[in-house]
Amino acid sequence: MTAALARSLARSPCSRTAFASAARTFTHTAVARRDGAADDAPTHFGFKTVPSSMKETLVRNVFSSVASRYDLMNDAMSMGIHRLWKDHLLRSMAPAPNTRLLDVAGGTGDVAQRFLEYQDKHHGGGASSVHMVDINPEMLAEGERRFAGSTWEREGRIAFSVGNAESLEFVDDCSVDYYTIAFGIRNCTHPERVVQEAHRVLKPGGRFMCLEFSRVENPVLATLYDMHSFHVIPRLGEVLAGDRASYEYLVESIRRFPPQDEFAQIIRDAGFTTIGRGYENLTFGTVAIHSGYKF
Ligand SMILES: C[S@@+](CC[C@H](N)C(=O)[O-])C[C@H]1O[C@@H](n2cnc3c(N)ncnc32)[C@H](O)[C@@H]1O
Repeated sequence: MTAALARSLARSPCSRTAFASAARTFTHTAVARRDGAADDAPTHFGFKTVPSSMKETLVRNVFSSVASRYDLMNDAMSMGIHRLWKDHLLRSMAPAPNTRLLDVAGGTGDVAQRFLEYQDKHHGGGASSVHMVDINPEMLAEGERRFAGSTWEREGRIAFSVGNAESLEFVDDCSVDYYTIAFGIRNCTHPERVVQEAHRVLKPGGRFMCLEFSRVENPVLATLYDMHSFHVIPRLGEVLAGDRASYEYLVESIRRFPPQDEFAQIIRDAGFTTIGRGYENLTFGTVAIHSGYKF
């Protein structure tokens, strides 16, 4: 048995009960996460240092402020390229029929919709479903609006929960086939806890996939990217959304997130098995898809 496999099994208490309860239909739950004493260790919020216990609230405020303009701003900031990155995420996942996705930090539902469209196109829909989780009720409400009245909603194939990626106590152990987090993990106070939770909730054989801004290695492109990030994006935030500060935070938070290889190691440390180096760079490393299997 390899060390990675032994580590993975040690962290996979997939009991019979967990498998049985995984068959239950998702319901809409409002979950407020608070697990005890405030954590006052310093952490970053963009380029500022704040107590860990404050970061969750600050991040929630950022996304409350941008929720109604989030989709418009995403298109404007990335010149529509975020759609291609998300399409690529789904093509790389190539989900099997009748599977269940947990889309964490799901926001307005771009990844959830692509998963359901993929299932309809390639597998005739079937019993596949998505459970979207987000810490911010306003962002999740935008997602709910997107699916309101859809066949997916009528068939009970989409569910929504307010919750923190670091503590998904309302999701059973070993209950989902795929876990995605797109442009969400860099906002979390303890990314390593997020990955450990992903490992807990995935079934054996399940797959973790993270789409996140990353590091551009080519120095010329990195300079151009910095100019776009620090000058164009905050200005777009000011003009299109009347909110420069939130977009400054979004740019700064990208620079604070660990580079590709360091994050791949966090994923392996949580017990996942990665293939090769564990990630794929897109658009010169502007974003990367990290992936790991629970065996
Ligand atoms: C940049 S948006 C990405 C939304 C969507 N996944 C997408 O790709 O368009 C980041 C999302 O992460 C959510 N978020 C931030 N911290 C979170 C946490 N600790 N747990 C769950 N969601 C979180 C925010 O509320 C926001 O909806």
